[in-house]
Amino acid sequence: MPHNVGMRIGLLTSGGDAPGLNAVIRGAVFSGIQVYGQEFVGFRNGWRGVIEGDIIPLGRNEIKGINKQGGTILGTSRTNPFEGRGGVERVNEVMKEHGIDAIIAIGGEGTLAAAKRLTDAGVKIVGVPKTVDNDLSATDYSFGFDTAVQIATDAMDRLRTTGDAHDRCMVAEVMGRHVGWIALHSGMAAGAHVILIPERKTSIEQICEWVTAAHDRGRAPLVVVAEGFSLDTMDDAHSERGLDAFGRPRLGGIGELIAPEIEARTGIETRATTLGHIQRGGTPSGFDRVLATRLGMAAIRTVIGERWGTMVALRGTDIVEVPFEQALGTLKTVPHERYEEARVLFG
Ligand code: F6P
Repeated sequence: MPHNVGMRIGLLTSGGDAPGLNAVIRGAVFSGIQVYGQEFVGFRNGWRGVIEGDIIPLGRNEIKGINKQGGTILGTSRTNPFEGRGGVERVNEVMKEHGIDAIIAIGGEGTLAAAKRLTDAGVKIVGVPKTVDNDLSATDYSFGFDTAVQIATDAMDRLRTTGDAHDRCMVAEVMGRHVGWIALHSGMAAGAHVILIPERKTSIEQICEWVTAAHDRGRAPLVVVAEGFSLDTMDDAHSERGLDAFGRPRLGGIGELIAPEIEARTGIETRATTLGHIQRGGTPSGFDRVLATRLGMAAIRTVIGERWGTMVALRGTDIVEVPFEQALGTLKTVPHERYEEARVLFG
């Protein structure tokens, strides 16, 4: 038996939530207790809980049935562990005080970058990738993405029936800060006539050409736009809501911006709907529950193997391990060919 059986592990969820976070927690805690006799605690609200020593017990009782629940029972925040009174010393102090041997950090790019800095300084951390946008390059899919796509697809099916009834063009804005995966997949699933993604600037003339072509065929045009999309006349993605806790512009509103332009140029009555955080809410899909549970269980095996500074990830149908440095730095954008493939169906 490995010598670190019976160790005490702290779990945290950090950054924007994604459906499946609770399933990761359950997968890790369940297998850790059951197979390795480990003990668990949860840090509340991401790295903030680490810095503040805000800790809750995490036993079999706390994880009962939570794989079906959206959100995260631990709470989350976009706190950076190196800011304020944080830093390596504080993290070590809190871990020592609570007898915590290692941390499993479930989070996106920002969370894993902080985890890497801490691991480089000797803190024992294993990562689990989390991004509803599906933009982490080291994993084929991240949990929460499938659920978000399904929610967006259902919403678009509904937009299409009301669009048809009024003979309107419907613009649906979905999440996707730097990448257009949610837009591409939900747009394709819903049979959208135009899909606009951050990776590909497009002119309003081209958009209107597709809208008009669809309308001329007797269809009520559906335009899907990712929040991070820019028209070819814009330097940056549209933002009118200030900055988030990481100092990044809060996106949203590009749909409302292009809808009147489409209406003015095509003469087709146009309405915009922003799906926003609905895409991150509610119960995870079956796919996401399974993926999240497997990632949680795999993280425990990585802890047992003492492979600190490693993230678990999905490659094909296998769960693999990837060093933090390989997981960070490059975003998984929609490849040119994938967009071209979808583009054939526009208009
Ligand atoms: O990174 C995931 C994401 O959902 C983005 O698509 C979006 O821009 C952002 O988070 C929204 O963040 P918040 O929950 O802080 O409003």
